[in-house]
Amino acid sequence: MRTQVGIVGAGPAGLLLALMLQRDGIDCVVLESRSRDYVESRVRAGVLEQGTVDLMAELGAVDRLRRESMPDARLDVRFSGGIITMDLPALTPGKIVTVYGQQEVVKDLIATRLDRGGAILFEAEAARLSGVNYVRPVVHFRYKGRDETLECDIIAGCDGFHGICRGAIPEQVLTVYDRIYPFGWLGILSESTPFAEMSYSNHEHGFALASRRSPRISRLYVQCPADDDPAQWPDNRIWEELHLRLYDRGGELDEGRIFQKDVIPVRAFVAAPMHHGRLFLAGDAAHIVPPTGAKGLNLAAADVRVLARALAEFFRTGSVARLERYSDTCLKRVWKVVRYSNYMTSLLHRFETHSPFERRVQQAELEYLLNSMPARTTIAENYVGLPFEED
Ligand code: FAD
Ligand code: DHB
Repeated sequence: MRTQVGIVGAGPAGLLLALMLQRDGIDCVVLESRSRDYVESRVRAGVLEQGTVDLMAELGAVDRLRRESMPDARLDVRFSGGIITMDLPALTPGKIVTVYGQQEVVKDLIATRLDRGGAILFEAEAARLSGVNYVRPVVHFRYKGRDETLECDIIAGCDGFHGICRGAIPEQVLTVYDRIYPFGWLGILSESTPFAEMSYSNHEHGFALASRRSPRISRLYVQCPADDDPAQWPDNRIWEELHLRLYDRGGELDEGRIFQKDVIPVRAFVAAPMHHGRLFLAGDAAHIVPPTGAKGLNLAAADVRVLARALAEFFRTGSVARLERYSDTCLKRVWKVVRYSNYMTSLLHRFETHSPFERRVQQAELEYLLNSMPARTTIAENYVGLPFEED
């Protein structure tokens, strides 16, 4: 097989890139190791920045999102000293976020790509890349029990944190920055009326978060040990911790049937540069941010927006100028998002290793936010999404 851009991975990064390239008349093939069913039901992130929604709108993949998503104009942070309320349009000004599950985004992008006759090969697992330093790099993949090759001009490595593309960049040119936090998140979905606002909480027992997927489905998280097993969390233990950690005094937290439980790692990881020869990494393949900032999916969308523009220029004019700047342009935003996600993680979790001094500083930071509009503004402007800088 032969194409202009070989895209490895049908997550948000790969699918958004495929639609942008298709719009610009550039031929591409998406290879995805999992089945369509699997990727469409994988429960992950839920908060979309306006820039991500705008991109889906530009690509004509926004109809169901407009009908079923939930615009969110407020963000609350609860702690022992009260509730810090952030009115997003007042602080940003005029901006909000949109709550819409990642698997719904993925379903909409897949349907749009297939409707337009674009290729996605499911259950096609990339095994290795070759020739990334030459003009015709090749993706070697396994499909329907056979070894196949996809010859490309450019390879887009959108295959997530555990993918194979990052490994094609020689170790001596790749710098890895990594922070593994000493805890994880237990996430659940339940058939219960959600909180009215997105509520993050700092409690002595640990972090908690109340989000939602629909007016009847809650998405709730509690901090747990990094290597915890969901089996350690019978339903009554989860509800007990949620009532406590969310400072629920008056039946605010509605208990319902829990139909999904998973443990999510909390880590930050950046691999630089995001480009080597004819290979460009995007999204989780290049970086992971702790989920406290709600940024992973949005950052993946920001990367491929930059990449699509650079590829359009390359295929139109032959110029590699923008492609050469791709990694630097993306990493500027990546580090700002790592900074914010690390800040929110440090602010809201219980660190067993914290000294009494560090606990007091964390508490003072929360008290400061309660009474300082500039401090709340810095959270709000990061939460709704930083502006895009010209590359
Ligand atoms: P992915 O969505 O990981 O997509 C990569 C795709 O590549 C996958 O479909 C994978 O199957 C495919 N692939 C991998 N290897 C190969 C191969 N060899 N060949 C072909 N295909 C391959 N972010 C938040 O903001 N909030 C959250 O609550 C949150 N929860 C998360 C929970 C989990 C369990 C995980 C893993 C991530 C979570 N994230 C969350 C992060 C967010 O979901 C990611 O940042 C986002 O999915 C990044 O999109 P992506 O397209 O770069 O990568
Ligand atoms: C959700 C996930 C997050 O990581 C977050 O910070 C906020 C909301 C969610 O799944 O809805």
